[in-house]
Amino acid sequence: MNTPGTRDAILRVFRQRKGQFVSGEEISQTLGISRTAVWKHIGLLREQGYGIESAASRGYRLTQTPDTLIPAEIQANLETSCIGREVVLLEETDSTNRVAHEYGKAGAEEGLVIIADQQTAGKGRLGRPWASPQGVNLYTSILLRPSILPRWATQLTFLSSVAVARAIEDLSGLHPQVKWPNDVLIDGKKVAGILNEIDAEMEGIHYLVMGIGVNLNMTKAQFPDDLRYPATSLALETGRDISRLAFARVLYRELDALYKTYLQEGFKPIAAAWSRFFAWQGKMVEVDFQDRRLQGTVTGIDTDGALLLRLDSGATERVLAGDVRPL
Ligand code: BTN
Repeated sequence: MNTPGTRDAILRVFRQRKGQFVSGEEISQTLGISRTAVWKHIGLLREQGYGIESAASRGYRLTQTPDTLIPAEIQANLETSCIGREVVLLEETDSTNRVAHEYGKAGAEEGLVIIADQQTAGKGRLGRPWASPQGVNLYTSILLRPSILPRWATQLTFLSSVAVARAIEDLSGLHPQVKWPNDVLIDGKKVAGILNEIDAEMEGIHYLVMGIGVNLNMTKAQFPDDLRYPATSLALETGRDISRLAFARVLYRELDALYKTYLQEGFKPIAAAWSRFFAWQGKMVEVDFQDRRLQGTVTGIDTDGALLLRLDSGATERVLAGDVRPL
């Protein structure tokens, strides 16, 4: 067994014992390696930040797991049916979306998760860069193969926003809001962005890459100077660090549950869940759309993900793209 494999196997033994001591002898027999090898791997795990207590005649027990993104830690008891069935961790990559496209083209199964410690060319919407410094935030892309027409793909963007907003609520206690079409904000400041891309033909989608970036522990100094919008991180808002590992696990669970609902029941429950986080429902807004400036009351979204505005004239306008401002 190679070193990472042995390390994962030892961690599995600890997890099965739920915080109890396990003797070096038992680990050595379970894994079929020598006691010296066990001792060596325990040392390696400690170097990686695992807290492992040892007691004479009792053996070892796991007391702390570091906030390093390790596939085995992400997958441990994840209990999802699709998302995260395979996890690929990259210490550094240009863009997890690009990597996910490669896997998609090579025929990888849906549910594959790519996650990176840092991105050197993180992609934002409209060709903008996405700041992706090392070790602080979540940069992840998920490969999906829904049997839907390409025009419905935007529905999965709303699904991603709901999953991110729920994970933020769960782990920070903050009250996130979603902005149409797909930013996630805290107090009007952007904390997460979503870039979903498809590889498709007219009749169907070959695969969809769901790209999610969440500013978890980024400091003020790590934001680019030329940001076009106010931005923040969960650590800046709460005053405490948020575990990337814990966040990723909650996010994948939420995505898995929502995706299952979507495949079984369609977009309606997703749109309803999204509206709960949507601050402008029923509010007057202004939007520049197709060379026109429109003002109206937001009445919701439709199945294309278009924003529905009731104009003063009483007519309803479907806004497919544009920057929306509250009035
Ligand atoms: C936006 O502009 O709001 C979308 C940002 C999306 C960033 C994420 S980070 C993980 C994934 N990989 C990328 O290159 N982009 C997305």
